[in-house]
Amino acid sequence: IKRITTHILQEMKLRGEKISMLTAYDFSMARLVDGAGMDIILVGDSASNVMAGHETTLPITLDQMIYHASSVVRAVRRALVVVDLPFGSYQGNSSEALRSAIRIMKESGAHAVKMEGGSEIKESITRVLSAGVPVMGHLGLTPQSIYKFGTYAVRAREEAEAQKLMADAQLLEDIGCFGVVLEKIPATLGKQVAESVRIPVIGIGAGPHVDGQVLVLHDMLGINKEFSPKFLRRYADLYTSITDAVSHYVRDIKNREFPNEKEGY
Ligand code: KIV
Ligand code: NA
Repeated sequence: IKRITTHILQEMKLRGEKISMLTAYDFSMARLVDGAGMDIILVGDSASNVMAGHETTLPITLDQMIYHASSVVRAVRRALVVVDLPFGSYQGNSSEALRSAIRIMKESGAHAVKMEGGSEIKESITRVLSAGVPVMGHLGLTPQSIYKFGTYAVRAREEAEAQKLMADAQLLEDIGCFGVVLEKIPATLGKQVAESVRIPVIGIGAGPHVDGQVLVLHDMLGINKEFSPKFLRRYADLYTSITDAVSHYVRDIKNREFPNEKEGY
């Protein structure tokens, strides 16, 4: 199998081939996601929510991200594995950003990192790139800044914020990022950014006119019922499948129907 590289992603954009991206946080799921043909697997700090049960992405630590990332890397044969630098491991201190990125690359074997923000974190991104670590940007709704925004509502509806987002996307391209995620912004703005920068633009709630799409694995598999933003398409109802299977197992134990004669030694 030919591994996906940042160079291949660039060619896909030039060809107009859409890029597929999905999160994974553990070995077993990453095996399935990679085997199904995903181009990019993101070890997102959404692990803080879906794996650890936190309300936000802020509490997850660098050590915990490295644990998730190394589990994913062991499973993946084809996809490019991108890992989120967690909150507090890169903002406002480019030396710490470099240290954090190097720890992720060395200790997990991942292929790239993702960082939230534009001009505010320019020095940190530049420093990480200077070490030869590919960086993906993340603009629009950046969940590590949720307490600044105060809401998970759509970003960049106003002209000023849209202009800043356009400028930040251009900046990320100029300093050498290999791609950028745009989260929860108007589709028209997603289209504008994808047309104006040469690096691949991957959207989540950024409309259909970007170069690729990303979703959170547990959300698109329908494992959680609570989270239902408009951009989320559920491709399975694992909430029901898993609940049915597990309650069936409980019932069989209680009814002495599991195990049967053949299932013993
Ligand atoms: O952590 C995450 O899952 C992400 C995606 C939503 C892009 O950053
Ligand atoms: Na993230």
